[in-house]
Formats: sequence, structure tokens, C-alpha cells
Amino acid sequence: MQSLQDKASEWSGVAAADAFAIDDVNIFESLGGTPQPFVDLSTNFYTRVYEDEEEWFREIFGGSKKEDAIQNQYEFLIQRMGGPPLFSQRRGHPALIGRHRPFLGYPPSCRAVATPHATSFGRN
Ligand code: HEM
Repeated sequence: MQSLQDKASEWSGVAAADAFAIDDVNIFESLGGTPQPFVDLSTNFYTRVYEDEEEWFREIFGGSKKEDAIQNQYEFLIQRMGGPPLFSQRRGHPALIGRHRPFLGYPPSCRAVATPHATSFGRN
């Protein structure tokens, strides 16, 4: 049977070795070793999400407060990019496939991005 990792590579078009190149460099330290760039990125990202012109898209995030979504994302990114494990200390294992399961009924754009990337992003 095809492994989840093989499927992730097939769907995303990103070879596993390329996906895990993220582990070869400490991006958190490269960006100055502070949370600020990630806080800014996530704030900018979710500000756009919550103001998106498409209602169906905004509704996907309707179950979360914007401030919580921002914090969940920047803590995860800091951890995955080589910084302190803030996300796991507060939320436990990332378990991205499980955490995104409620949203997999949404349009293909959501499924196609969330599932394959979650397999490489969700490792630690
Ligand atoms: C590279 C792809 C993605 C990554 C790495 C990622 C990562 C994450 C993380 C870390 C969380 C916080 C989980 C928690 O603390 O419970 C989250 C939440 C969420 N994600 Fe994603 N995600 C991705 C793609 C997507 C896509 C494509 C969608 C749908 C369009 C989506 C929808 C959501 C929603 C609705 C939440 C809940 C917001 C919250 O309360 O934090 N994600 N995602």
C-alpha cells in the first residue's frame, strides 16, 4: 500500500527530500531568533482570511476567534522552523491531519493543500 508520505509527494508534486529540507536549516534563527517575524506573518495572514470577500471561505474559520487562530499558527510555525516548542507545550502534538479533519469536506483547494502538507509539517 502507498504510504501517506508517497501520497503527499504525489498530490503536492513536492519530493519528500525537498519537503524535509526544512529540517536542514534553522529558519527561526536565520530570521533573528525572535517570535516577531512569525507573529507578523500570522497576523497579516489571518487578518486577510477573516476579511476575505468570499463568505464560504470565511465560514471555514468561523469556529475560531481570530486571535486564537493567529496564536495557534505562529506558535506552530516557530516550533516547526526550529524555535522553542511553544505549540506543543500549549496544544500537544500538532496532529495536523486530525486537526484538519473537520474541514476536509470543504472545496478541493482546502483538501489538496491541507492534507499533503500536513504530513510533512506535522512531524514535530
Ligand atoms: C501548509 C498547510 C497548512 C498548515 C501547515 C496548517 C496548520 C495549521 C495549524 C498549526 C493549525 C492550528 C491547529 C490547532 O491549534 O488546533 C491550523 C488550524 C486551522 N487550519 Fe490549517 N494548515 C494548513 C492548511 C490549511 C488549509 C488549506 C485550510 C483550509 C482552507 C486550513 C484550515 C484551518 C482551520 C479552519 C483551522 C482552525 C483555526 C484555529 O483555530 O487555529 N488549514 N492549521
